[in-house]
Amino acid sequence: MDKAVEQALNEQINAELYSAYLYLSISAWFSSIGMKGMAAWELVQAQEERDHAMMLYNYLLSSGGKMIATEIKAPQTEWGSPKEAFEFQLAHEKGVTASINRLIEISQSAKDHASIARLQWFITEQVEEEENVRDVLNQITLAADFPSYLYMIDKELGTRVYTPPTGNGA
Ligand code: FEO
Repeated sequence: MDKAVEQALNEQINAELYSAYLYLSISAWFSSIGMKGMAAWELVQAQEERDHAMMLYNYLLSSGGKMIATEIKAPQTEWGSPKEAFEFQLAHEKGVTASINRLIEISQSAKDHASIARLQWFITEQVEEEENVRDVLNQITLAADFPSYLYMIDKELGTRVYTPPTGNGA
């Protein structure tokens, strides 16, 4: 496997594990302010991020690459409001999208067509990830003038069910 692609895949695995840790941290913060539905929603998100890391890990190994475990930085632990937490999450997901795009560009430079093909799933997934967070953020923004609406949103978000990404190597 091309060394630059191998290194970029390793960095993306770290980024996905950091994402899982960040969403666990956001979940813990939501729990601490009594937003149990949002906390549950974030736990599902954290699980999906772990799946993303494992999909990349399994792909890296099946392509003859080596996984090098590196330090995962500590995430932020407090936010000023649910809106601020989801804004933080949206900005983070945009960063992840940029990182996936960069990984594909590195694969293109290396003429690594297998990696380019494998990473297409992540391109589609990022569109969905950003949309999901943007949808919640829009609802919370609309609720600004109606605080009781925030509790309805919390209840609704608590119904999110984790679905494993079948057939994608997680
Ligand atoms: Fe794995 Fe939310 O990007």
